[in-house]
Amino acid sequence: MPSDAPRPHATHASPEAARAAAATVLDAGAADAVGALAADSAGTLGTVLTHASVRRFEPEPVPDDVVAALEAALVRGPTSSALHSYTHVLVRDPERKRRMAHLAGDQRWIDEAPLLIVGCADLRRTRAMVHARGYRYTAHDLRMLVSATADLTVGLQNASLVAQSLGYGTVLLGGVLNGSLEIAHDLGLPERVVPLVGLSVGRPAGDRWPTPRPRLPLPLLVHHEAWSLTDAAERALLEAHDAETCAEGTYEGRRIPWAAMGRGGEDPVAEGDYGILEHVGRKQGRATWGPQGAKVDHDLPAQGLRVRGTGDVDPD
Ligand SMILES: Cc1cc2nc3c(=O)[nH]c(=O)nc-3n(C[C@H](O)[C@H](O)[C@H](O)COP(=O)(O)O)c2cc1C
Repeated sequence: MPSDAPRPHATHASPEAARAAAATVLDAGAADAVGALAADSAGTLGTVLTHASVRRFEPEPVPDDVVAALEAALVRGPTSSALHSYTHVLVRDPERKRRMAHLAGDQRWIDEAPLLIVGCADLRRTRAMVHARGYRYTAHDLRMLVSATADLTVGLQNASLVAQSLGYGTVLLGGVLNGSLEIAHDLGLPERVVPLVGLSVGRPAGDRWPTPRPRLPLPLLVHHEAWSLTDAAERALLEAHDAETCAEGTYEGRRIPWAAMGRGGEDPVAEGDYGILEHVGRKQGRATWGPQGAKVDHDLPAQGLRVRGTGDVDPD
């Protein structure tokens, strides 16, 4: 693929777009200030603030130079203790990508996007390095899992921002976790290299960019110096936001069936009352779950992602 192929324009990353996106979470004065800064940030602010997941893609391949930029972005971010506890696998083969789409929960956009990046926690390489020096591996505590997950997410998010800055759309894919064992098998991954999160990349269909989607009010998500919310204030902010999501129909077509709540009878919540509170309530308060939770509980340890005690000596 020639490197002088026409590039889409990332107009969504302009200072005006940055200001408009900032205004969805900041007051008007702060959003103006951010808009002014955006002009100085070489597009970074605009790219970050106008992010929206893309789930419809053009089939054209991502050019090699863009792929190279993504590879660099995947590894140039910070890495916990400089351990590099991650490995990313880029998948472009349509047949393999189709299988990945199925294994990650039948997500059509994985199939549709020309590039899939499978982000893996890699607890294998560091162990090999320990063994190379003749030591026994003892790093079995939760910190290894947390730092590997942080490492791979940093890489994927950086790649996502680079892609978006160049006019490519992306969507992160936690669904990879559900098919982790089978995906690892398909990709020929050794034990302890465990797929956890993916990223699809491609030109947005028709060059249409989704407008940035709503966020919870900033005071719920960001505090200064210390926790600054009373429970009552939190409740009031949540209820106000809930009313907005009901009025805007944010969850239209995404309703979690009442049957999942295990309470019997007809769904008591009318269409216009199904907002973020009801949705999260159903999502995390359901009585019946699919097999995925138990599958992940089984599959991750089966791939060597086991948490044991600090200092526990590896048997091999
Ligand atoms: C860790 C993580 C996992 C995600 N997994 C999926 C996924 O499997 N499929 C998907 O379509 N979107 C996935 N998303 C995207 C979210 O659904 C999306 O970010 C959220 O709905 C907010 O929308 P926005 O990104 O357009 O602002 C994931 C996002 C994150 C951060």
